[in-house]
Amino acid sequence: MENYLDLKGRLIEQGIRFSSQTDTEVIAHLIGLYERETGDFVAAFGKAMQDLRGGNAVVAMNRNHHGLILAARLGYAGAVVIGLGNGETFVASDVPAILDYTQRMVFLDDGEMALVTSEGPRFFRISGEPIEKEIVTVAWDPVSAAKGGYKHFMQKEIFEQPRAISDCLGGRVDVEVGEVHLNDLLLSDEDLRRIDKIYAVACGTALYACLLGKFFIETLAGVRVETDYGSEFRYRNPILDERTLLLAVTQSGETVDTLAAMEAARAAGVKSVSIVNAIGSQAARLANGGVIYLNAGPEIGVASTKAFTTMIIALYLFALRLAQARGRIERSRMRQEIQSLLEIPNHVGDLLRDTSIYAELVDRYHRASNMLYLGRWVNYPIALEGALKMKEISYIHAEGYPAGEMKHGPIALIDEQMPVVCIAIRDQVYEKMLSNVEQVRARGGEVIAIATEGDGLIAEKAQHVIYVPRTAPLLSPIVTTIPLQLLAYYMAVRRGADVDQPRNLAKSVTVE
Ligand code: AGP
Repeated sequence: MENYLDLKGRLIEQGIRFSSQTDTEVIAHLIGLYERETGDFVAAFGKAMQDLRGGNAVVAMNRNHHGLILAARLGYAGAVVIGLGNGETFVASDVPAILDYTQRMVFLDDGEMALVTSEGPRFFRISGEPIEKEIVTVAWDPVSAAKGGYKHFMQKEIFEQPRAISDCLGGRVDVEVGEVHLNDLLLSDEDLRRIDKIYAVACGTALYACLLGKFFIETLAGVRVETDYGSEFRYRNPILDERTLLLAVTQSGETVDTLAAMEAARAAGVKSVSIVNAIGSQAARLANGGVIYLNAGPEIGVASTKAFTTMIIALYLFALRLAQARGRIERSRMRQEIQSLLEIPNHVGDLLRDTSIYAELVDRYHRASNMLYLGRWVNYPIALEGALKMKEISYIHAEGYPAGEMKHGPIALIDEQMPVVCIAIRDQVYEKMLSNVEQVRARGGEVIAIATEGDGLIAEKAQHVIYVPRTAPLLSPIVTTIPLQLLAYYMAVRRGADVDQPRNLAKSVTVE
């Protein structure tokens, strides 16, 4: 609540005494003040909501009004979900909280409020006009939101990736005809042809997916892509015109910095498309160019895994759809690309079958204080992502770097205490990655290589090798990221960290 101090000052001037330092208490007194003035609790609530600035989700009850709950959403932070049960109604801040009771949800938008009684909910603008709201059925069954027999949600979600990737592809690719269909996209072929620049904006892991999206879209569709952190985009003076498209990539659909970028695009009259997992989230509703749902099911672990790999799939599908609209790819090539995508779930499944190698790596490196992750080309973003996974759940300081930058600084860090992960698969930068591995070894560093199955040469150079299946070159990040998820997971477990809820982190960063 950005203006609680001046509201608090106003209330104190009117003789109101506070018993706490919280901004929440300001809201309660504000409602009370307006109720004394108007004699109407509901009107007082709406009036108070109009005074608040910033992103707020507010729920209010009043001991003199039994059986009445009021809820409001202000700004695009702080989600409010109204669950429609069987003869009962729920108010919550997120879907999984009430999924055990109902899958029928209504999502409040900025400046809207709900009045909930035993008869059910009614919806209004906070200024008082009644409104109609769409009921969304969130097809996440309660069981899938539970751990399903795994030790941690993160573990479950890592092992769910073959299914999540299949679901992300489901109904969107026709390998016989060689076509991609994105039915929730509201852009026609002509709209897609008019686009001459795309800003792909996100935060954290989702930003690393955007870095891959840049490769896909520029290579396959021939459209310029700029990527940016949501938190930085808002300080740019981006050149936005009617031929620009904003691509917002976000698992939760509630990341305030990403939503701010969408808001900036809307204000500039630029269409936005969101690539999002959470059904009915703000990013899904703000996107006037449509949505590409990840269809990955609920991701509960703070460290994003299946959302990341399905973001890569969704971005690849978008790039193909864009190329298709622009006539950039022959049918035969489309069939080839789709076939490569359809093989990915099995490749990922193969990687999840035997995790024994991680015990040896964890034994050797779980006391490390620092780690370096190196990759080139499409695996540079995977080096960044692998390092983020490690740092956010095991608390080891891990840094991802473009391997070509080694000589420009990081090589000074190499010593026996610094395990170095090198993504050195048989692709167009393999030879250069091999020399990076040799540079690290020559300085006493230990190398964990991610390599292409059957590559014997790398085993002569790296202390440890984790093999991944060969894929189409642009799609290798989906398989190279899996070992890095598992490495981070098993290291965090060994170090006794809280894997699903790492310290200081939230699953969705809805505040700035
Ligand atoms: C990823 O493991 C982190 N939890 C974090 O970087 C996350 O990717 C970021 O906060 C963005 O979240 P979003 O995808 O819900 O927008």
